[in-house]
Formats: sequence, structure tokens, C-alpha cells
Amino acid sequence: MERATQYELQLAQRMSRLGTETAFEVLNKARALERQGKSIIHLEIGEPDFDTPANIVEAGVDALRKGWTHYGPSAGLPELRQALADYVSRTRGVKVTSDEVVVVPGGKPIIFFTILALIDEGDEVIYPNPGFPIYESMIRYVGGRAVPIRLREEGDFSLDVNELTALISDHTKLIILNSPQNPTGGALSRPDIEQIAKIIGDRNIMVLSDEIYSRLLFDGAEHFSIMSVPGMQERTILLDGFSKTYAMTGWRMGYGVMRSDLATHITRLMTNSNSCTASFTQVAGIEAIKGDQSSVDHMRDEFQRRRQVVVAGLNKIKGFSCRMPKGAFYVFPNITQTGWKSKPLADALLEQAGVAALSGTSFGEFGEGYLRFSIANSMENLHQALERIDQWTKKNL
Ligand SMILES: Cc1ncc(COP(=O)(O)O)c(C=O)c1O
Repeated sequence: MERATQYELQLAQRMSRLGTETAFEVLNKARALERQGKSIIHLEIGEPDFDTPANIVEAGVDALRKGWTHYGPSAGLPELRQALADYVSRTRGVKVTSDEVVVVPGGKPIIFFTILALIDEGDEVIYPNPGFPIYESMIRYVGGRAVPIRLREEGDFSLDVNELTALISDHTKLIILNSPQNPTGGALSRPDIEQIAKIIGDRNIMVLSDEIYSRLLFDGAEHFSIMSVPGMQERTILLDGFSKTYAMTGWRMGYGVMRSDLATHITRLMTNSNSCTASFTQVAGIEAIKGDQSSVDHMRDEFQRRRQVVVAGLNKIKGFSCRMPKGAFYVFPNITQTGWKSKPLADALLEQAGVAALSGTSFGEFGEGYLRFSIANSMENLHQALERIDQWTKKNL
């Protein structure tokens, strides 16, 4: 209940420009329906349904027992920063030193801090649309100009380099890339990325490369980072993290890799906001990055299996057509042939069919005509969700 107040809340202007991530709202709505006794299959939230691998949990528990319960350095524990520098050097084929790594509580703070540190009012930022909603939210929050680049289904949700060329202006300060991509499951190939780097040329434009799904690519495809393109390392901020790769969403840990002079400023933002990432979490992070990696492969193979089933199932449902995602754990079916708009369809599926999904418009205006389903749920639940959607469409379309 609203409390009666004597004083009007005088929010800062900028708060009206802050967006959100609808997944959490839909989750709340779904939970409220469950409390009323409805059965809901949760395909709205973007987190692995697996538990954090046991060796990582053990390392975290052990760290707590050993007293890793105090503040640590704002940029992260030196041993973890070194392990991450070695990992990124190895996987991206570049030379990264530990002073170029900043550990933060999740992948999101790297988006927040990078935009806060680099974007002044009026600066233009090009970002994928449909795309992770926090990009646009943060650009607008700091007063930047949000310039969407449309990801098109006919281009397999890659990015049209001619369109990118047309969008770059003298005011472009930052380009955000995300591959493998949320919500479309698209991925940028090495030639795509080399083309993008070529278009940027020698302009002083920074690239925020969100690679949080880099270990979730299917069909044996290899991840390629724009940081690996000769000449681009200095202009790239690589975002990666533990949430998706090691099923560690609740531990809150991610990192950015960037030139050391920028890392100093991102570290200042850490000091001003969080002080540091939780110390015992970081000790577990060292085990995650250096320890047995078989659980990562296992999760990827499982998502690949589920993807086949869900895409095949959706393509049999009236009005739905779905491309095979190349990575991440989402499917993004086109629903235009249902005759419904995305948001009302997502609402109806939640309320009437008991399947929680996200409207494509949760990811920007160009998400209209699509829904996003997370496949991070058991095969049994995915089959049941397909069945429920099929039954609903048979009754309502
Ligand atoms: C593309 C993308 N970037 C960043 C994040 C943030 O990850 P974290 O939970 O580690 O903050 C997400 C999470 O859904 C994501 O999908």
C-alpha cells in the first residue's frame, strides 16, 4: 500500500530516462499467478537451470571458512585478474596483462561503467536492436544519443555492415556488439567482425564487445572477438563473466578487459559504487576459470539438444516460425503470422496457456513480431510448454 506522504518525491530528471529489463517484471507476474494456484512454465528468465558446478561451490565455501570475508582491491584479487588475463590472452589470441582486467559484480556493471565513463551528453552510441535492454537504458540515462542498428531475421540476426556504415557519424563515440546474442541467438562470424573493424577503420571509436555467451556457441563454431583484430585491442572493452558460462548468476561476478588507462577509471567507478566484488566469490572464480571445464561443455551440449527440440516444436505451431539459434540459450520465433502483436501474445500465453515468455519488444522496437523463449528449462518442461502453446493457438487462432 502507498504510504501517505507530505513531501513530493523530487526525482532527478535522468531517472525518467532509465529503462529496465522486463524479464524480472514478467517473473514477478508469473510468480503472482503461481500463488493463485496456476501452473506456469518459466521460459522468461535468462539464466542456466543448472546448479553451479560442485568444484566451484566447494572453492567458495572453503574461501568463506578461510576468512575471505573482507574487502579486497577494487579492481579484483590479483590472482583472479592474472588468471583472467591469461584466459583472455589464450582465447582471444591477444596479449592481455592483469592491469587491463577489472573484476566487477556481474557483466552488467561493465555496461554501466563503460557508458558512464565514456559517454557525454549528445554522444552517439550504436547498439543492437533487438538487443539486451540495458544498453539503451544506460545510453539514455547518461544523456547519450541511442542509435539502434536493426538485426534482421533475413540476415540471420547478424549485423548489416552497410547499415552500420550509414549510422556512423562524427558524434559516434561507442559501438556495442553482442555475440552470441541475446535475444536472437544470432552470432557474428569472423568475416562479419573483420568487416566491422574495417568500417571503423582508424576512427577513434570505442567498441564494447559483450561476449558473455562466448562459451555457448553451437555446432562446433568458434567464438571470435573484435579484440583479436589487429589494431582493435586498444579500442575494445571486452565484457565477459561467470553468470552464463558457469551457471553463477547469483554469485554476481563478471569482468571487463580494456586498455589500462581506462581500467583505472572503471576501477574508480568500482570504488565509488561497490568498493569491490565479494572476495569469496572471486576465490571461487579462480577455481571456475582454472579448474575442470567439463561442466561448461556439458551445459552447452544440453542447450544444443534442447534447441533442436524447441525450434522443431515451434515450427509446427500455427503462426510461428523459428530460426535455429547459433548460440546462447534463447529462441526467438517470428510470430507475425499469428496476427497478434508481441506483447499481447506474451501476456495471453502467460495468463491463458501458463507459459512465461518475453515479448520481442522487451528488447527494443525492432523486436516487434517476435517472442523470446529461454531454453534454460528441463526437456520435460520444454515439451510441455510447446504442447500448451500448441493447444492455445488451436483454440485461439
Ligand atoms: C547480453 C548480456 N549481457 C550482459 C548480461 C548481464 O549478465 P550478469 O548477470 O552477469 O550481470 C546479460 C544477462 O542476461 C546478457 O544477456
